[in-house]
Amino acid sequence: MTPGLPPEAEAHYRGYDEDDRLARHWIERVRTQQVLARLLPEPVVVLDVGGGTGIHSRWLADQGHHVTLVDAMPEHVEQAEADGTYTARVGDARSLDQAPESVEAVLLLGPLYHLVDLEDRSQALAEAHRVLRPGGVLVAGAISYAASLLDGTAQPWLDDERFVEIVRADLATGQHRNPTGHPEWFTTTYFHRPEQLREEVEAAGFDVEELIGVEGPGWLLGEPERALVAAELADAHPELAVLSAHLLAVGRRP
Ligand SMILES: C[S@@+](CC[C@H](N)C(=O)[O-])C[C@H]1O[C@@H](n2cnc3c(N)ncnc32)[C@H](O)[C@@H]1O
Repeated sequence: MTPGLPPEAEAHYRGYDEDDRLARHWIERVRTQQVLARLLPEPVVVLDVGGGTGIHSRWLADQGHHVTLVDAMPEHVEQAEADGTYTARVGDARSLDQAPESVEAVLLLGPLYHLVDLEDRSQALAEAHRVLRPGGVLVAGAISYAASLLDGTAQPWLDDERFVEIVRADLATGQHRNPTGHPEWFTTTYFHRPEQLREEVEAAGFDVEELIGVEGPGWLLGEPERALVAAELADAHPELAVLSAHLLAVGRRP
């Protein structure tokens, strides 16, 4: 068993091409990397926790950053290691093998939705805080509690009573479960409301500087250029973050 991931999440990733995900989800990749470029204008030491197969690590290393990727899935780390432009190792966001105050930036783009218990998410955020130097930046990603509602409206999935039940639970509790095994309906995870994400990051001792909706309102329409304009228009109005699938909290360690 993989530490940090329940067996069904592990099975999900074993049957899924994670390395291709951000090629298909263009707007998520471009918008996330725009935020990272703005926050990290000069080369720094970055820890990419839950970095998957290294899409963002590779891009950051290409920008001159000194990157270490940590991920719970050994298969993802193997793929990341093959890149060779940054370091990668297996690890758990809740217990990082990293010295205190040793990095300028932590990406937590995955663990906060995979850790379904608040206590575990708090532990992952506490670890990010511990390894960051004072003044360092945390980019913490979450999935919005409304993501399945929007996705299921654009795809034909709300025609399926099983998906309707998934959406009902996401909206009511944030606890996303997929007993069907449908690969596009994801796996055991926790979906945040924007204010919950902010509260959890603040509770770990960070100053939350921004709460960003990643994809903006156009993510389901399949028109990348128009979606980018829509996302930029929505940026000025943080209450529109729920129209995105992913949320980012930018936290600063005081
Ligand atoms: C959907 S992928 C996201 C990958 C990449 N960060 C991105 O934004 O595209 C989520 C990743 O988080 C990893 N993960 C989940 N829980 C974790 C934990 N407790 N510690 C480390 N990695 C974890 C998973 O193995 C998976 O590779």
